[in-house]
Parts: sequence; C-alpha cells; structure tokens
Amino acid sequence: MKIGVLISGRGSNLKALIDACAKADFPAEIVLVISNKENAGGLDIARAAGIATKVVSHRDYDTREAFDHVMNDALLEAGADFICNAGFMRILSDWFVAQWHDRQLNIHPSLLPAFKGLKVHERVLEAGCKVSGCTVHFVRPAMDEGPIVAQAAVPILEGDTPETLAARILEAEHGIYPEALRLVAEGRVRIVDERTVIR
Ligand code: GRF
Repeated sequence: MKIGVLISGRGSNLKALIDACAKADFPAEIVLVISNKENAGGLDIARAAGIATKVVSHRDYDTREAFDHVMNDALLEAGADFICNAGFMRILSDWFVAQWHDRQLNIHPSLLPAFKGLKVHERVLEAGCKVSGCTVHFVRPAMDEGPIVAQAAVPILEGDTPETLAARILEAEHGIYPEALRLVAEGRVRIVDERTVIR
C-alpha cells in the first residue's frame, strides 16, 4: 500500500510509521508527506528518511475545498492509495473525505468516542478519569469519528499534568498506529455497519 501522510507539527507518529515501513515485512510504504505548516518538525523527519515532502499552506487558499484539491492532486501524483493523518490539524472537506472513504486513518489521543476535539488531556484530568488512551480510526466527515481499528488504554497517575499524560499516551500511539496500519494493509480489516471486524 502506498501511503500519504498528512501532518501539521512535530511528527512523532510519522516517525513511528516511517520506522515500521522500513521493516522488510511491512506491507506499506510512505510515498509523500504533506504538511500545511512549513516549519513542521515532521518535514525534517521525512526528509531525513528520504521521503518526498510537500507544503500546502491553507493560508494560500480561499476555501477549504481549494486547499483540499491541491492536497488531493499531490497525493494522486505521488501514487498514494491510502492516507494516514498524523497530527494533521485542519478539518477536511466532505469532498476530500469522500475521495478517501475507507482509505484514510487518523489517530486521536483519547479513547473515542470520549473526548473528541482539542485540549483532550486537560478535559480528561478535569473529569477525574482513571484511564485514558488513544484510538486509530477510519476518517469520516465528522471530526474524530469513524470505525475504530485499534485502541490502547493508558493509566492516569496521581499528580499527572496534561503534559505527563500526553507523553504517556504518545508512547502508546507509536505502538498502535503502525499496528493498525499493518492490519489494514494486510487486508484484515473489514467495515461492517460502521464498525470494524478484524481477522
Ligand atoms: C498526537 O497526540 C495525535 O494523537 C494527535 O496529534 C498529536 C500529534 O503528535 N492527533 P505528533 O506530531 O505525531 O508527534
């Protein structure tokens, strides 16, 4: 499977995917990394791994659709047939999501469907939760919604701050994202009634 990865920042999940794809038996390769921010750290990670990169700044386009069309063209030109969002901070148009229906994954740092959106760890701690975690899911038009492929639960410890909790969850993210991608790329994931069935 040929993967395009969408990022906006640091790129630690991108790095986890790059490392997984470097393994001889991994059934996917990354053909393009797109960032909407030119200073995203993930761009350096991609370049260091010899992966093609492209910056598509949302500021250069009047509409969400125009921005999404440019990304879509770049992905098709690179030969991508699947997308992984890895810390991509733009809302995608319904048109773009439809183009990549069942061919786009996202990772979110909570146990979805709880705590969608931003400031997740702050809200989790505020709610007094005892566990949190992360979720890899197929992308649907609504933000942080879609069939779940993998989740990891992470304990919340006494004295946790949003930062310490984020770091603990991030480590789990780096484990489940490559594993979820592997399952999908091996054709072991079916979507039935908007839930996944994994062989
Ligand atoms: C991760 O916590 C991911 O779950 C969320 O954004 C963060 C991206 O981090 N969607 P990184 O850029 O992969 O390091």
